[in-house]
Amino acid sequence: MLVVHAADELAPAHGGALVPTMGALHAGHLALIRRAKETGGRVVVSLFVNPTQFAPGEDHAKYPRRRAADVAAAEEAGAEIVFAPEVETVYPTEAEVAVPPLPPVAIDPGLEDACRPGHLAGVCQVVARLFDLVRPAHAIFGEKDFQQLLVIGAMTARATERWPGLEIIAHPTVREPDGLAMSSRNEYLAPDERARALGLFEALHAARSETRPDRAEERMRSVLEGHALEVDYAVVRDRTKLMPLAEDVSHGRALIAARLGAVRLIDNMAWG
Ligand code: PAJ
Repeated sequence: MLVVHAADELAPAHGGALVPTMGALHAGHLALIRRAKETGGRVVVSLFVNPTQFAPGEDHAKYPRRRAADVAAAEEAGAEIVFAPEVETVYPTEAEVAVPPLPPVAIDPGLEDACRPGHLAGVCQVVARLFDLVRPAHAIFGEKDFQQLLVIGAMTARATERWPGLEIIAHPTVREPDGLAMSSRNEYLAPDERARALGLFEALHAARSETRPDRAEERMRSVLEGHALEVDYAVVRDRTKLMPLAEDVSHGRALIAARLGAVRLIDNMAWG
C-alpha cells in the first residue's frame, strides 16, 4: 500500500480506478473500492475533506477525520494507493482549480443545489481536479448521492478531451441491516435520532407502492413528518435529468433530503 500526499508522486496511479471519498470510510465506501477492483486496474482511494463543497455553517470543521483507520480499511478492501492530499495540493492556484461549468442536472431540478448553494459546484471542482491529478480510466461513485452521480456523469461526458476514455461507474447504495443508508454523518445521530432516521428508508418504501408521483410525494412527506423529520425535499423525478414526472412513476427515482436537528441526511430509491 502506497500512501501519497503530493501530486508528483501519483504517476503510478494513472490509468487505474479512482474512488473519491472524504474519508471516515464505512461499508458503503468499501463496496465502491471492491467494485473498483473488478475493473482490473490499480485502485486509488482519495481521502480529502473538500472545503469548497461545504456551505458556510455546515459541518466542514467537525467532519470525521481518521486517516490511519481509513488507510487500513482501504488496503483491506483492495486499494493499492491512498491519495491523501493537503488543501494546497488540491488547490494551488486559481487557474488549476477552475470550477467546471455546471451541467443542467446540477441546477434545473432544484434539489441539492437549491438547499446547499455552491455544494455541487464544489463537488465538480474537486472531482475535476482529482481526475486531472490521478488521470483514472474508471471512477466509481455511489448511488447514495444520486444527483452528485448524475452531475459527475454529465460533467465527464462533456469533457471527453480533458479526460479521454474515462468511464464513470455507479454502485448501488449500501445499507445498514435495518435499511438506513450508510453515511459518515450517521455517527452524529443520538440513539433516538438514529431510530427516527429510518423514516427516510420507510418513506422511500412507502412511495414505491404508489403509482402517481403526487401521491408518492404525499406519502413520503407524511412518513417523514411522522418521524418528526424536517423535509428539505421528498420528490419523485425522472432518473436521468431529475425533472418532475407527469404521470407514470415506473422510470422514476424517489429522492429525499431531511434534517434531524443539525444532521442532514439524503437517500433515494428506484422504482421496481
Ligand atoms: P463521501 O461522502 O465520502 O462519499 C464518497 C463516495 O462514496 C461517493 O461516491 C458516495 O456516493 C459513496 N457512498 C457514500 N455512502 C454510500 C453508501 N451508503 N452506499 C454506496 N455508496 C456510498 O461524496 C463524497 O464523499 C464527496 O462529495 C466526493 C465525491 C468525494 C467529492 O469531495
